[in-house]
Formats: sequence, C-alpha cells, structure tokens
Amino acid sequence: MHRAMEAWSVEYGPFFRFRVGRREILGVADTGAIGAILRDRPAGFRRTRLLETVFHELGILGVFAANGDAWRAQRRMVMAAFDTRHVKSYFPFLARVTERFHRRLNGHALRGVAFDLQADLMRYTVDVVAGLAFGVDINTLESDGETIQTHLNHVFPMLNRRLSAPFPYWRWLRLPADRALDRHLAIVHREVAALITQARERLARNPGLREAPANLIEAMLVESESPGAQLTDYDVASNVVTMLLAGEDTTANTLAWLIHLASREPPVLARLADEATRVLGDGRFAERLEVASALSFTAACAHETMRLKPVAPIILLQASEPKVVGDVAIPAGTVVAALMRRGAMDGRFFERPDAFEPERWLGPAAAAAAGTPVTSRERISMPFGAGPRICPGRNLALLEINMVTSMLFRNFVIKALHTEDGAPVREWLSFTMAPSRLLITLAPRS
Ligand code: HEM
Repeated sequence: MHRAMEAWSVEYGPFFRFRVGRREILGVADTGAIGAILRDRPAGFRRTRLLETVFHELGILGVFAANGDAWRAQRRMVMAAFDTRHVKSYFPFLARVTERFHRRLNGHALRGVAFDLQADLMRYTVDVVAGLAFGVDINTLESDGETIQTHLNHVFPMLNRRLSAPFPYWRWLRLPADRALDRHLAIVHREVAALITQARERLARNPGLREAPANLIEAMLVESESPGAQLTDYDVASNVVTMLLAGEDTTANTLAWLIHLASREPPVLARLADEATRVLGDGRFAERLEVASALSFTAACAHETMRLKPVAPIILLQASEPKVVGDVAIPAGTVVAALMRRGAMDGRFFERPDAFEPERWLGPAAAAAAGTPVTSRERISMPFGAGPRICPGRNLALLEINMVTSMLFRNFVIKALHTEDGAPVREWLSFTMAPSRLLITLAPRS
C-alpha cells in the first residue's frame, strides 16, 4: 500500500486524491506541508476517527490513538516517564538487558545455528520497555516458549487490516483471523492486568511512591486514584498495551533494517566493528551511558537506516477544521496520508538518495545530539514524526539501537543473513514497516 502511494506521488505530484471504499483521502508528499500538518496538532489535525475507533474496539485507546483532552493528560505522563533524566537513571537496567541479549546471541553463535533475527530483537525491546515503563523485569530473553510478545505480534497486522479495510466487516462477520485476534488480546489484557496489580501492590507497600512514582504505570495509577482524576482504569490498561506495542516493533524493525542494510556494505560493517571495539574497549557492551553516547558512526547508521526504511512510512491524520494544505483547500474531516519517505529520498536534499551512506549524518546528527537546533536535513527525514505528537520514545529507541548494534559488532561477525526462502528482502507494512523475516547466523569475533 505504501509503495503504491509513493508511486502515485511520483506520477501525480506532491498532492493527490484517492479513495478507499467511500473514504476520500488526500495524499501529501511535500515535506514542508507535512511538517506544517504535524505541527498543527492537536487543534488543526488529529489521529483519524477510524483509527481511534479501531483501537478503542480492541481496548487500547492510549496516548497513540487518543485525541483532545484525553490525549493531553496521557501525553504529559508519558513525556515525564521518557524524559532524558528518567532514561539516564534507567541505564543500569538497560545494560543488564543488553548483557542478557549478548548471552543469548553468544549461545546462538557457539552453536552456529541460524535464528530469527526480528523475534530475538523483539524480546530485547519488549524487556526494555517493560522495565522502563512498568518497573518489571519480564525477561523474555531468557524465557523459553510463549511470551507476551508472541501474542502482541498478532495485534499490528490486524490493526493494519482493519484500518485499510473498505468497510468494518468485523462488526458483522468475525473471520478466523478476527477470532484469533480476540484470543491473543484476551491473553495480552490478562498479562497487563497482572502488571497493574503488581504496581498497585508496590504503591500499597511503599506509600512514598505516591509522591514520586518510579515509572509510567505507577504515575498513571496515582493519577487515576486522585480526586477529579483525568485517567480511568481503562486508560491505564490501554497505555500499558500501547507502550508495549509502540516500543517493540518500531525499534526491533529499525534494528533489523540496520543490520540488513549494513550487511550489504563491507566498509560500513568494518567501521561499525572498529568503532565498537575502540569505544567499548574490553567491555562486551556499553556499560555506561557516556560510552553508548560516544558511538557516533553507529548513531549515523541509525539515522541513515530510518531515512531509507522509516518504520512509519505513512502517517494518517484527519483535519479537525477546514484547512489549506500546500495550495489545496480541504473541508473539516478530510483524511490526509502524509508520505514520510518522499522528501528523504529526494535528490535535491540528499545526494545519491538510494545509497546507504551513514557518513552524511555525522556532522548534523552529532550537533543535534549535543542539543543544537535541528538542521534542515532532520526536518526532511522525520522518522519519529514531528510537532506536539512526535515520538516520545525516540531517545530511548536511539539508545537501544546504539547498545545493540555496538554489542553485536563488537562480539560477532555475520556468517549469513537471508530471508526464509532466500528471496530478496521486501518491505512489509503491517502498521510498522518490517523487512521480510530474516534468518541470521553469527560467529564469535576472534
Ligand atoms: C526506532 C524506533 C521508533 C520509531 C521510528 C518511532 C516512530 C514513531 C512515529 C513516526 C510516531 C508518530 C509521530 C507523529 O504522529 O508525529 C510515534 C509515536 C509514538 N511512539 Fe514511537 N517510534 C519508535 C520507538 C518508540 C518507543 C521505544 C516508544 C516507547 C516505548 C514509542 C512510543 C510512541 C508513542 C507512545 C507514540 C504516540 C505519541 C502521541 O501520539 O502523542 N516509540 N513513534
């Protein structure tokens, strides 16, 4: 679907209309117009009504799908939980999960077996998010068999299917896939209820936490129990699932794309390994935040990966009032599909736009990390969105990417990396854009 829209924007120009069922949608590929729309939130544009309803039907109307005042209250809490200070104090846990991931990869490498790259990356990202947002160590990395993310994996493809369906068939007819979704979601909600119970018990045991909640789930519970609360129990549960979903596939798929893209460029691979060896020294992984932050070439690879393979190549929005987008007047209620990759692939902004050249990010990325204003290049490639609803997990995601990439290339070499059936890697959009399932074989680096 996203490739078709991108092709239409080449054929018809940066503004074009198309229909899905009875819905008419305005496609926008002009980066300036997209930036203006994304910044014109929450007043001018919102997440679409369809998205809000579909998420609500699944019991996950959290900060990603909510609008208006409900969104404002949830967003404030999420931002506090993901601010740089909190992510900093969480670093020791992140280091512990990375150490576990190293042990897991080492086991695979010593056995010389091929393993499912994305599945392992998702174990890592889900463990990280659960630790940061809920203060629990779910340790899927060292669990065998079924884990919570086995069930979460079924949610995104179905969300995608329902959002692109010409009409809401599932309200009348439940196909086997819809019934399977109900079963998986019931398990996810049961696990989430257990996380909430644990957090309530922590608050009861340690009333001091009410003044200074240690994580998002505690902050939300305290708020939901206060007089005049803006959050309900439903909101708390919705946001727990939202965080698991938002933090899992996005970062894991970006890492999978990075490993795939780098593996095709021997000079990039060599430079990643050199940087990891130099910066990590004798360590198997970055044991301090300053070490993880010093991996500038690795960070450049992350930015270049997200330019070529943004996990959200399309962002759907809906105008809350009559608007002019570029030079197109639209009535209130118009759905807009923002094509996030077109500018990033435009030769006017990026020389050799198809090539994977991380070096192009070294200057501005380092400056942005140091807190200087974003450059025009970062305004064109917007993998985390922009404006008031920009991804609140971006600092955490960039840190995870540096941790995993440096640990991987410090300790292992890639012996083989291919799709299940050996076909070329393809882009699969199921809410986030993933590469085809990749099997990887590692060997210990001598
Ligand atoms: C490489 C990894 C990631 C990418 C590329 C990514 C990308 C995005 C994008 C494009 C959006 C929509 C922004 C907009 O509407 O302007 C978004 C929203 C969001 N992301 Fe991320 N994300 C990543 C990782 C994470 C992580 C690790 C978390 C948290 C654990 C997270 C939590 C969220 C949430 C809660 C929202 C909704 C924000 C709102 O609507 O106010 N994301 N992300």
